[in-house]
Amino acid sequence: MARVSMPISNRWFQGAVITYLIGFTVLGILTYLVYRDQPPVPREVVAGGKIVFTHDDVVNGMNVFQRYGLMEYGSVYGHGAYLGPDFTAEYLHKSSEFLVSRYQEASQPGLSARERVVAELHQNSYDPSDDRLRWSEARAQAHESLIEYYRTVFQSKSSRGGAQANWISDRDDIRRLTAFFAWTAWTATANRPGYTYSYTSNWPPEPLAGNFVTADAIIWSIISIIALLGGTGLVFYFFGRYDWLGWGAEQSSPVRFRPVEDVANTPAQRAVVWFLLVSSLLFVLQTLTGGLIAHYRAEPDVFFGIDLSSVLPFNIVRTWHVQLAIFWVSASYLATGIFIVPLIAGKEPRGQSVLTVMLLVAVAIVVFGSLAGEYAGAQGWLGEGFWFWLGHQGWEYLDLGRLWQILLIVGLFLWVFILFRGLRGPLRQQHFGNMPWMLFYAALAIPAFYSVGLLTSPRATFVVNDFWRFWVVHLWVEDFLELFTTVMVAYMFVLLGVVREATALRVIYLDIILYSMGGVIGTMHHLYFSGTPVAHLALGATFSAMEVIPLMLLTLEAWSFIKSGEQRAVERYHLHRWSVRFLVAVGVWNFLGAGVITPTPR
Ligand SMILES: [Fe+2]
Repeated sequence: MARVSMPISNRWFQGAVITYLIGFTVLGILTYLVYRDQPPVPREVVAGGKIVFTHDDVVNGMNVFQRYGLMEYGSVYGHGAYLGPDFTAEYLHKSSEFLVSRYQEASQPGLSARERVVAELHQNSYDPSDDRLRWSEARAQAHESLIEYYRTVFQSKSSRGGAQANWISDRDDIRRLTAFFAWTAWTATANRPGYTYSYTSNWPPEPLAGNFVTADAIIWSIISIIALLGGTGLVFYFFGRYDWLGWGAEQSSPVRFRPVEDVANTPAQRAVVWFLLVSSLLFVLQTLTGGLIAHYRAEPDVFFGIDLSSVLPFNIVRTWHVQLAIFWVSASYLATGIFIVPLIAGKEPRGQSVLTVMLLVAVAIVVFGSLAGEYAGAQGWLGEGFWFWLGHQGWEYLDLGRLWQILLIVGLFLWVFILFRGLRGPLRQQHFGNMPWMLFYAALAIPAFYSVGLLTSPRATFVVNDFWRFWVVHLWVEDFLELFTTVMVAYMFVLLGVVREATALRVIYLDIILYSMGGVIGTMHHLYFSGTPVAHLALGATFSAMEVIPLMLLTLEAWSFIKSGEQRAVERYHLHRWSVRFLVAVGVWNFLGAGVITPTPR
């Protein structure tokens, strides 16, 4: 049986495939460069014949950082929650101060103490031949003083500034944790081989350590703005000159609405109500935890006179807040997908409602299991053995333990299977580039790109882990969840009968091509200063600045669409008017929130 061909040119489909191929090829090369050019973790750091700390100290220290959920309190390389300090910057500042005062006491002729510190910190004294990093004795002493400092912070008798009392009881854990902070601070100043700036492009800024913005960072910032301006002009020219989208041609033929009486709810659609109930409950919890962390920022020590840190520390509330956001959004997506499929297929295979209820139970187990695990893990109750699997995995937005993470991925694939069962008929009949397939691809991308989070490893360096974390934060949340929303909204318009399939498909393809041209490589806008080579800064800045262009274009197209006959028909038809306005509002808030307010690195 021949498949139903595409109502628009096949070139849209080819264009989307080519856009993804190019984007992910470049991203593949950048992935290779991250592994190849990451700063080394030396076998040993030595000073005057004595070992200051070892490779294992740094990696185990990173695990302490993960286990206690410190990224949801402070940050490393500027990545994390911002109530606590940036530990890279803090270590760097305090150790630089220590060295300056030490060198002021024992001055060298011709070189001021500050110049000496800058020269020492920026000189890369790592020797690849024996995998050792050599430090001065003064620097080893600075490190010792910082271990003592972090003992006062993490073993404080009382909670202060949002840090809980007696946070990390093991003295050795604090020694390891400080080694991890020291390593990040070392990468922040030691010059990358062959360059005049550090592995992190001189981030964080620190005058005492000679960390100032690099020429490359300024040049690529300027180039990204030029690309934005030039790209905007070009896109407007082409879309003004050629009527590619062709809303105009479709104005003449009338739109036929689908009457509500024609639609009867299937068992799976009725089961979706429970999903939406759970999702709403999670949303309320997310809002409440959000209010609490806002209070922590205003009044970090007490909550209206009560020491809340002893029961609900900031890092745990923040973890719940970001995890609940992911959970309620995902649960709503699952619900919407399951709800829309019978409308598309016109029927529902047996057993869909049972699978839906199973999925809901699985989601509830993962949500509440992982939230409880994060609490237990970050309190140190799960010990060395289970923190990673059941507790707090330690990466902001990927906080849940590895077991929960795997279960969530399994649940998301089960969801795709449920959609596939329902969509089997339309998928068999339609061209691979038509609406049912677009829905299927968009759904499949959700578990696929969430799975990328499994590439983080407690034995890999922070640089590699942070890299994969941002694949999830950017590609999953900012690109593929958006794609699913676009397909859903477009499909709803089609099912309501207010938009023709050809128009909806064009919008989807336009969205894919324009967003992905900037968005896929633009993932790197999160990774300018976290130990990645300068290629990431260059491509990340340029492509992410260009991400704004499609937003402008889509707004422009939305106007011409609204002015077209389809919208006028909608205005007359009262029944669907508010549905349509709701969907338009989704687009407006999406533009304001994702486009204007938060296209910044986190
Ligand atoms: Fe992003």
